[in-house]
Amino acid sequence: MLNDKGDKIKANSLFEPLSIGNLHLKNRITMAPMTRGRAGKERRPNELMADYYYQRSSAGLLITEATVISKQGIGWIDSPGIFTDEMVEGWLKVTDKVKPINTPFFLQLWHCGRASHSDFHNGELPVSASAVRLNGDKIHTPRGKKPHETPRALSLNEIKETARIVIASPRFCISEMPSILRVISIKVFY
Ligand SMILES: Cc1cc2nc3c(=O)[nH]c(=O)nc-3n(C[C@H](O)[C@H](O)[C@H](O)COP(=O)(O)O)c2cc1C
Repeated sequence: MLNDKGDKIKANSLFEPLSIGNLHLKNRITMAPMTRGRAGKERRPNELMADYYYQRSSAGLLITEATVISKQGIGWIDSPGIFTDEMVEGWLKVTDKVKPINTPFFLQLWHCGRASHSDFHNGELPVSASAVRLNGDKIHTPRGKKPHETPRALSLNEIKETARIVIASPRFCISEMPSILRVISIKVFY
C-alpha cells in the first residue's frame, strides 16, 4: 500500500501502537466525539453510557460526546453535563468502567452559545458575544425543530465570566477525575 507521497506503508499500521508526546495509543483507531443524548433530563452520565464507551474501548483513543460545562451552555436534548457533583459522579461511573482497559479518554467540553435556543432556557434567549443569528439548519429543541434565534449579546463582564468558566472547566474535570482524563478538547459555539 502507498501513501499520498508514493511511499510504501504497511497495510496493517492501523493496528500498530502510536505515541504522541506522553500519550501512548495501543492502535491508531480513534473514536470521534458523537453526541448521543442518552444522559436524560438531569444530564447525568449513566450505566448505558458506561456500557457504550466500554464497548468501544478497544480503540486506541476515545473522545467523548460533547459535554456541557454550565447551565447556560446547554443546547442539545439529554446531552451530558459536567458542572454538578451528580454529573461528576455519573462520569466517574463511565471512567471507572473504561479505566481497566487503559485507553486514553478525552472529554469534549461544550458551550452551545448561540447554537442553543430559548426552549432550553425557560424562554430566555441563548447567548453569544454579539447579537448575530447563526445561519444554517434548524435546531432540535425540547419542543420540536425550530429556526435559530438571534442571541442576546453578553455584556463584557458576562463574557469574562463565561471565559472564566470555560478555562476553569478542564481544571475542575482533571481535579475530579485525575487518573483518566488526560486531555480535554473544548468546543464553544460563539
Ligand atoms: C450523530 C453525530 C453526533 C456528533 N456529535 C459531535 C460532538 O458531540 N462533537 C463534535 O465535535 N463532533 C460531533 N460530530 C461530528 C463527528 O465527530 C465527525 O467529525 C463527523 O461525523 C465527520 O466525520 P468524518 O469526517 O469521519 O466523516 C457528530 C457527528 C454525528 C454524526
